[in-house]
Amino acid sequence: MEASKYIFNQESYSVNAGEVTWESPSNIALVKYWGKKENQIPANPSISFTLNNCHTLTTVKYEQAEQLSFEVFVKGKREKSFEPKIEQFFSRIKEYTPFIVNLKLEIHTENTFPHSSGIASSASGLSALALCIVSIEKELDSTMSDAFFKGKASFLARLGSGSACRSVYPELVVWGENTSFENSSDLIASPFSGAHEVFKDFQDTILLVDKGQKVVSSTVGHNLMHNHPFSEQRFAQAHNNLKDLKKALIEGDLKMFTKIVESEALTLHAMMMTSNPYFILMKPNTLKIIEKVWEYRVKHNLNLTITLDAGANVHLLYPKSESEQALALIEGTLIDFCENKGYICDEVGLGSVKV
Ligand code: DP6
Repeated sequence: MEASKYIFNQESYSVNAGEVTWESPSNIALVKYWGKKENQIPANPSISFTLNNCHTLTTVKYEQAEQLSFEVFVKGKREKSFEPKIEQFFSRIKEYTPFIVNLKLEIHTENTFPHSSGIASSASGLSALALCIVSIEKELDSTMSDAFFKGKASFLARLGSGSACRSVYPELVVWGENTSFENSSDLIASPFSGAHEVFKDFQDTILLVDKGQKVVSSTVGHNLMHNHPFSEQRFAQAHNNLKDLKKALIEGDLKMFTKIVESEALTLHAMMMTSNPYFILMKPNTLKIIEKVWEYRVKHNLNLTITLDAGANVHLLYPKSESEQALALIEGTLIDFCENKGYICDEVGLGSVKV
């Protein structure tokens, strides 16, 4: 696939003022994207669960103008701290959406999860914004198909934040060229619908170990994979894990699922600990939780699985049928290791929706 497919090249058009709203969820990677090339191309393929409850709701009000200008509001209040990231997003996408250079935008956005929960909001936030921009494009090109719409939204979201390209689609989503999933691409994500039904309503309880700002951003972390002593082995491992995970997902093999997903989480953090400069995002309570989950899993013969993103919080994944035991462990033990006993219950979701 060529990126040029997504260039808007209508010669004359005029934008009527209007507004559009999208809701887009966060996602949690099972095989992790860590390392990238120029233009937000991932160094290895990844796959994620799209979540349901943690999402961003974004409304974009737009009108024709001499040049691009925008203001960001969070729950009605101007939020200048978000503007540099969005400025960067617009500068990266304008080659594909030239009509934005003649727009005045008001961006109203809010998350269902607390901003300071340590949960990355870039996946949900930038996918919601990308979807709004493609909705404006659709006003100018009414022939646009639904498939092209979602593909372009995923393409633009990727330019804002890599993981955001996966949030456009439901349930299980693959991003990055690989030989295990047909039609996989570095430019856009695509949904994988062949998984066993046990994964349709998989649960993800996010244990909020540390709600503070991360000490090292994902973008800096990705860059440290250049010249990393283990990068080549890591990228090859991600391809293998993706292949094995596909089999586990199809067969509903929960033991294999746990083995691959946990290894991916720990490898991600091992890459951080072995980069130059090295850094650690886990906290003592991250390890305490992992230890307690592993003990309990063996004792009760369960399939509770931990994963981590680029932070200290622990995502506890489990089949819905194990919810009662998982919640007993969370309420009885794990909340003592969470900041202010905080956790968020989420589950696999159906992806972005136009509101
Ligand atoms: C550890 O998508 O936040 O969550 O492309 O620089 O915005 P940028 O990075 P980002 O990285 C996410 C990394 C991860 C793994 C993943 O989601 O696959």
